[in-house]
Amino acid sequence: MKTIVIAGGTDGIGKALAEVRLGAGDTVVVVGRSETKGKAFLDTAAALGAADRAVFLPADLSLIEENERIADELRARFPTLDALIFCARHYRTRRAETADGIEENFALFYLSRYLLGHALVDALSAAEHPVVVNVAGPGASLNVVRWDDLELRHGYHGGAALGQGGKLNDLLGVAFAERYGELGIRYVLIHPGVTATSFSGSYDEPTLQQIRSMQSFAKPVEAALPPILAAVDAPPAEPLSAFVEGVRIGVTDRSFDPAAARRLDADTARILLGRRGKSAAAEAN
Ligand SMILES: NC(=O)c1ccc[n+]([C@@H]2O[C@H](COP(=O)([O-])OP(=O)(O)OC[C@H]3O[C@@H](n4cnc5c(N)ncnc54)[C@H](OP(=O)(O)O)[C@@H]3O)[C@@H](O)[C@H]2O)c1
Repeated sequence: MKTIVIAGGTDGIGKALAEVRLGAGDTVVVVGRSETKGKAFLDTAAALGAADRAVFLPADLSLIEENERIADELRARFPTLDALIFCARHYRTRRAETADGIEENFALFYLSRYLLGHALVDALSAAEHPVVVNVAGPGASLNVVRWDDLELRHGYHGGAALGQGGKLNDLLGVAFAERYGELGIRYVLIHPGVTATSFSGSYDEPTLQQIRSMQSFAKPVEAALPPILAAVDAPPAEPLSAFVEGVRIGVTDRSFDPAAARRLDADTARILLGRRGKSAAAEAN
């Protein structure tokens, strides 16, 4: 039986995955903001007779410290992790910044995945067939990345922030696999296709109408699960792989450029250093 962490496991695809894996006998940890949804997950677990294998960790994963707290708790409670699945995401029509002063999409959709993945390498590498599954939208062109304005201070658009976030996750996968592939950890990028989920977001009215119309033709959540379940049960042999609606796509073309991945890795380390420096200075004053 496996131990599986699902960041963004309280709703949508993550929630459906959590329930399926609990039913299959795994230990499942879900992370999300909503206490109500977390309690509903624990109630479902109790109804399945799996209360002792279900954990809800409330956290706002858009915050650096919250990711560090969750990683610390996971490391302390679970020295071995078989699968780390990223599903947390929140659309924003209007640009917003977290309390750390980081643009929200960048912070939640990309930086949280960067922080949790790196912090849990030891626990993952202790498993027999460890896998990180990054559910986003692999395969877009590198052109969507605004290298000189990663936090989209100029000309923000929610769709562009989401598109860029997906690409940053591709590059995160490239850098992660390059660094940790030899430890046996497999990194799998998955585009589930348009799926009828909660579409967590802060929308203006026109965008909300578009979301409602998308929900009417989107596929049911259950249809998005098989590629993710397959990646958990039998991770691909290669350190990095990518799937769009169950179809494997290549990860060697220009859009998965290792030099771009290293550039993002270095930029991310710089952004984190800058934010931590500011926090330390604020605490000292
Ligand atoms: N649905 C689609 O059509 C589609 C298409 C392409 C890619 N994807 C990708 O698939 C993944 C899952 O999407 P979904 O549509 O299933 O998600 P969803 O239904 O919108 O649920 C989002 C999840 O993220 C959590 N979340 C949001 N803000 C958070 C925060 N600040 N801290 C912690 N957790 C937070 C939510 O939990 P709380 O409510 O408890 O905070 C919820 O569990 C995402 O990565 C998305 O990019 C989805």
